[in-house]
Amino acid sequence: MPALFTPLALKSVTLRNRVIVSPMCQYSSEEGKATDWHLVHLGARAVGGAGLVIAEATAVSPEGRISHGDAGLWNDAQIEPLQRINRFVEQHGAVAGVQIGHAGRKASAQRPWEGDKHLGPDEKPWPILAPSAVAFGAYLPVTPAAMSKDDIVRVRGNFAAAAKRALAAGYRFLELHFAHGYLAHEFFSPLANQRSDEYGGSFENRCRFLVETFDAVRAVWPEHLPLAVRLSVTDWAEGGVTVEESIELLKKLKGRGLDFIDVSQGFVTPDISKIPWGPGFMVPTTARIRREVGLPCGAGWMISEPAAADAIVQDGHADGVILAREMLKDPYWPFHAAKALGVDKPQQLLPVQYSHWLKR
Ligand SMILES: Cc1cc2nc3c(=O)[nH]c(=O)nc-3n(C[C@H](O)[C@H](O)[C@H](O)COP(=O)(O)O)c2cc1C
Repeated sequence: MPALFTPLALKSVTLRNRVIVSPMCQYSSEEGKATDWHLVHLGARAVGGAGLVIAEATAVSPEGRISHGDAGLWNDAQIEPLQRINRFVEQHGAVAGVQIGHAGRKASAQRPWEGDKHLGPDEKPWPILAPSAVAFGAYLPVTPAAMSKDDIVRVRGNFAAAAKRALAAGYRFLELHFAHGYLAHEFFSPLANQRSDEYGGSFENRCRFLVETFDAVRAVWPEHLPLAVRLSVTDWAEGGVTVEESIELLKKLKGRGLDFIDVSQGFVTPDISKIPWGPGFMVPTTARIRREVGLPCGAGWMISEPAAADAIVQDGHADGVILAREMLKDPYWPFHAAKALGVDKPQQLLPVQYSHWLKR
């Protein structure tokens, strides 16, 4: 069996294979509630054979949304539509996961296809919070308000409450969004955090919001279920987050109950010119983090070929591959990859309604 198609056990949860659907905002929720779109989008990727389907960045509070269309878990009415989706995803053999987060200074923006800019005065904008009153810049020019200690305590509580709702919604894998220049990453990165209190300055202080938030979630998320973090492990910038610092943070979180690392990168500033784009460009860093932190890791970014994906797992660079755009192009990527890699009876990855008719 190719390594990519061997099961992966994470706490009490076993993925049927190591193909993971990366969280992808759909900007298609209504007041934070999932719609038919999400049932079809997430359901199709479970039907396509993935081991784990991680639902999009889901806001822990209304002000933590990127756009009006973001998913949310800030109230109980948001639970029921997700239960239906998660039942379907799990019935089709995938594990249902979700990413929870807060958009920080990138909040209150238009949907990408409506402009991607901060909302204007006539577009129902909302107040933007961040560690410091420093704007992201470029297409997101609004200067956020620096969070008070009360804000920090409240948002931490929002994360824990959202985690409880995620459990009630039937998710079995929970990921904290500590990446891509959103709130947690803004606390970690000196490029966004200019605080002079215990939440800014030194490495310890810049970690504090992330560690406290992690602890608050771990306290309510069942011990037997995996808790993951998606971290931008480098800012690709002078004075920004480094891989070395990220490894130290991840070791701290490991000691506090972290089960899985979704290795990501960048986006705390608009400057993406230093990102070394190319197939699998984050794989060597993922391998290093896996080795030095000693936890299961997922490798993402520009992984598309089945043989390359299989080699990443086979060679021990990562425990799974996390695919986004390939999965948009082809929800049956896992089935097609299984065929390409010579898995016996690859059609068995598909539901019987399909597999019965497919001889190979
Ligand atoms: C439509 C879309 C929405 C995305 N939304 C999220 C998100 O909600 N959370 C997140 O961590 N990353 C998000 N990303 C980034 C992807 O999860 C992924 O890391 C990135 O696209 C690189 O993987 P790829 O090369 O396989 O596409 C999004 C990407 C796309 C294309």
